[in-house]
This record gives sequence, C-alpha cells and structure tokens, in this order.
Amino acid sequence: MARLLASLLKLSLFLPLTSAATTFTNPVIYQDHPDLDVFRVQDTYYYSSSTFAYSPGAPVLRSYDLVNWEPVSHSVPYLNFGANYNLTSGRAYVKGIWASTLRYSARNGRFYWLGCVDGKTYVWISNGNGLPNSGSEWNWQPRGTVQGAGCYYDAGMLVDDEKGEIFVVYGNKEIRVAQLTDDGAGNLREIKNQAVYNSGSTTVEGARLYKIRGEYYVFLTRPADAELVLRGGSSVWGPYTSRMLVDRIAGPLTNAGFAHQGGVVDTQDGRWFYMAFLDAYPGGRIPVLAPLTWTGDGWPQVVVDGNKAWGKQYPMPVNTTRTVRNGMLGGVDEFRGGKLGEVWEWNHNPDGGKWALDAANGGLVLKTATVTGDLFAARNTLTHRVVGPKSRGTFRIDVSAMKDGDRAGAVLFRDQAGYVGVHKTGNTATIVMVNALTLVEGSWTTSSAGVVAATGPSITGGEIWLRIQADITPAFGTNTGRQATFSYSTDGKTFTNLGPALTLSNSWRYFTGYRYGVFNFATKSLGGQVKVKSFSTELV
Ligand SMILES: *[C@@H]1O[C@H](CO)[C@@H](O)[C@H](O)[C@H]1NC(C)=O
Ligand SMILES: *[C@@H]1O[C@H](CO)[C@@H](O)[C@H](O)[C@H]1NC(C)=O
Repeated sequence: MARLLASLLKLSLFLPLTSAATTFTNPVIYQDHPDLDVFRVQDTYYYSSSTFAYSPGAPVLRSYDLVNWEPVSHSVPYLNFGANYNLTSGRAYVKGIWASTLRYSARNGRFYWLGCVDGKTYVWISNGNGLPNSGSEWNWQPRGTVQGAGCYYDAGMLVDDEKGEIFVVYGNKEIRVAQLTDDGAGNLREIKNQAVYNSGSTTVEGARLYKIRGEYYVFLTRPADAELVLRGGSSVWGPYTSRMLVDRIAGPLTNAGFAHQGGVVDTQDGRWFYMAFLDAYPGGRIPVLAPLTWTGDGWPQVVVDGNKAWGKQYPMPVNTTRTVRNGMLGGVDEFRGGKLGEVWEWNHNPDGGKWALDAANGGLVLKTATVTGDLFAARNTLTHRVVGPKSRGTFRIDVSAMKDGDRAGAVLFRDQAGYVGVHKTGNTATIVMVNALTLVEGSWTTSSAGVVAATGPSITGGEIWLRIQADITPAFGTNTGRQATFSYSTDGKTFTNLGPALTLSNSWRYFTGYRYGVFNFATKSLGGQVKVKSFSTELV
C-alpha cells in the first residue's frame, strides 16, 4: 500500500513535467544548425541546415511542434563536389554546403535539396519517403546540377503544388528568381531567370521565397543583424517593395548576435512562426523561434517581449501528442544497429574502406586512413556538435590495435583545436593532451599541427575513456574566452584532468562551431586501428 501510494505520489509529481509543456525556451536547439530552411508537410516540420565540408551534409531535422527536433536524415549522403571534399587532393574546410534549401512536392512525392557549391547548383532528391507516417526510409539520389543554371547563391526554393511551379530565389545584393521544371525524373532545368530586387550598397542574402494568401514574399538577411521582407504581389517576378522585419533586435541570449536569416513556417491551423539564428560563437549559429503576426495590410511582424526584444519564452506553437524519438542530445551511442546515427558527420567525405560498424557487438572500427603529422589533413575524423551551453562528451576507445606512430583520440574540433589522445611509439601507448592545432583564417591551411602540452601515463590495458568538457556559452564579439578541459580514465569512473584548458575561439570565420570528434591517423604507415565502443554526451 505504501509503495502504491509512493508511486502514485511520484506519478502526480512527475506527470506535469512529462505532459505537454505550455511554453518553450529559446534557443530551441542549443547546437550549431545554421542557414536553416524550415517548412511543413501536413503535421510535420522539417529543418535543413548547412554543413560546409562535413559529410554527410545538409542534415534534416524533424519536429511535430517546432520546438522538439530530431535528426532524421542528410540530404547529401556524400559530397559529390570534387576530390578536395575527400581530403585526398587538397582540402575543403569552410567550402561546401552553405545556405541551401529543402522542399517537398506533394504532386510527385519528392523532396528536393538544392544548393550552390563552388559555382554550381547541385540537386539531390528523395522520392516518396521520409514522409510523415510513411515509415519508409529516405533514399537520397544525386541529380547533378540544375541545367542551364549557374550558382544559385543562398538559394530558397518554392514548390507551388497548386500551379505545378518551382521557383528559386537567390543572390547577394542583386536578388534573382529562377523558374525550374522537373523532367519527371527529378532533373531540374532553368526555364526563366530574372532579377527582382537590388539592395544597392547594402549586403542582403539568405533568400527565402513564400506564397502566402496568393502573394509572393521574399525574406532576406542583412548579415548578420537584420531581416527584411519583400512583397511582390501576385507575380513572383514583382515588382517588390521592402520593409524591415527585425533590425538589430535584442535577445534572447546575451553575447550572441542578432536574430536573422532562417525562414518562416505556418501551422496547420494557420498561425505563423519565424525561425532565425544567432551568431553564438564559440558554439556556432543556433536557432531561435518567435511567433509572427500579420498587419491588416499583409506585412509580417515578429511578436516581441515587454522590452521589445526577441522573447526568451513563448507559448508552445503546437499542441500535439506526437513526439520525436531521438532528440538532439544523443545520450549514449554504442554504434549498434549497423548504421551511423544522424548526429554524426565526418570532417570530409570518409574513406569508406577504413571504417566499419561492428554489427554483431556494436562499436565503430576506425582504421588509420591517412599517413600525416596533421590532424586537419587526416581523413575519417568523426564529429558531433557540442550541445550548449555546457556539456561533455566521452569516447570509450579500445586502443590495443594501434601501431607504432599512430595517433588516436578525442578532439574538440575547429580551426583552433585541442585533443586528449594516445600516441603510440614503438610498443608504448602514451596518453597526451595536445593543443594549439591551428588553421590559418582564410586559406585554411595548417599553421600548427599541435603541441604536446601534457603527457600522462602509458596505458597497459586496451581501453581508455577520453573526455572533453566544453563551455560554449555565447561570447561572440567579446574578449571572453570560453574554456574546454580534457581528461581520461582507465576504468570509466575516475577521470584525471590532463593539460591546460583550451581557450575557444569566438571568431565567426570558420563558420561551423566547435564539435566533439574522434580520430585515428598514422604518422608512419597504415594498418593500425582503434575501436570506438561508445560515445556519451550530457549537459553539465
Ligand atoms: C570521393 O569519395 C566518394 C565517396 O565518399 C567517392 O564516391 C568518390 O569516387 C571519391 N572521389 C575521388 C575523386 O576520390
Ligand atoms: C495548447 O493547449 C493549451 C491548454 O489547453 C492552451 O492554453 C493553448 O492555447 C493551446 N495552444 C495551441 C497552440 O493550440
């Protein structure tokens, strides 16, 4: 009886927490998911974001309430943009997938991803799958580049299923609209292209195109502090008139930039929301959500708080019983199920012959894929976005099959990086902390392959736990250096700090925020391997 009472009490105490929340808190995802494009199909919201040279690229997130998201796919399973994306001849850090666009056509049951990379506009499609309630797998296929088109810089797509029309809005200062046709097999061809707006000397980009109540709207960012709206009336070709939507609006986080770029989306019952992002370095660019209302004459307005700032909290956008399964944090990943989770992305296209999942026992085998002294030149570094504001990531790794000269470990990966790892010399595997790994801003060549800042004991057992604790609380535009610390354990319970804290870079120029990563490269010859048995991450 007492137990029943206790469990009833527990239920009543905990039920309100597990039942639907009535408000949400910004940022909706405390993770680097920049250049976002958001849209709805029936009761399901999709979110596409940019990933530069990380592979697979252009992750797809799914939500039923615009607040709780889960990673479900990548529109670009491998980067088909040239050999430098494989890190075999040259490198592509900071190149690759910038602002791009994802849309669904109910007419042909097809998702389209489209984005400009190195001057060409690439297309990937997924047919009739990944849909709400379909239970089917995504099946992304390349469709080359848009025929007859150049670079659709910062593209935004509009699929008008009523009229069977496809448009793309794009550009920087000169904003253009292109009309496309699908040949039936998902190949896109440009049939018309026209400039619709010019901002003169002010930079505008990050375009999105919508048809709302029969009227065309273009949303543009003035990077990185404002958002404009253009209205073109009933013709997609304009003429367009403009108005500011938000201009250096405060909130919702301090030491993060201004809410800008992103896109708008409606709910099934006709309410609207604007999802923008903040430059929140060192963590990257993180999304924030606010309701959007419309003036009587059809201009959108962001609902601000009592201080005219972007709200820290708003009422939940949607009441639904549908929940996402995986969430954004990831929890513990033991690399089971024969497929890498959608939270993972490699530093460039991986060498597929040098990694494998152990289907029977779980775990990820990483064979050395590159002979180099430079982590930035090594293939097959697997990365996971740091979750903010403060979290830690722990890799459990079996290092018993490392070879002389091999280096493996857990890196806090960006253009200014550090790691805790194992350097194998002869038969001795030594635990080290390495910092000052640095890329030159702009050329992204390596200026420092790192310095051993601390040496720990050598390990005799086969397994080691390597942990990074990172504080990515926004410090953008400040001189405050957020810190990360590195530690190791030989039993998974007691962790020992190693080396000095790493001061994180607040610069935006690398674009992508800090990531946890696991790596294994050779300095002498290939043939060694490690097995990553698990990764766990939690807020601290
Ligand atoms: C790059 O890697 C992809 C797969 O990851 C492969 O299909 C392609 O052939 C490689 N390209 C070059 C030039 O090595
Ligand atoms: C969700 O349900 C709550 C409680 O019934 C209600 O106050 C709120 O207005 C609803 N929100 C939406 C978006 O329907």
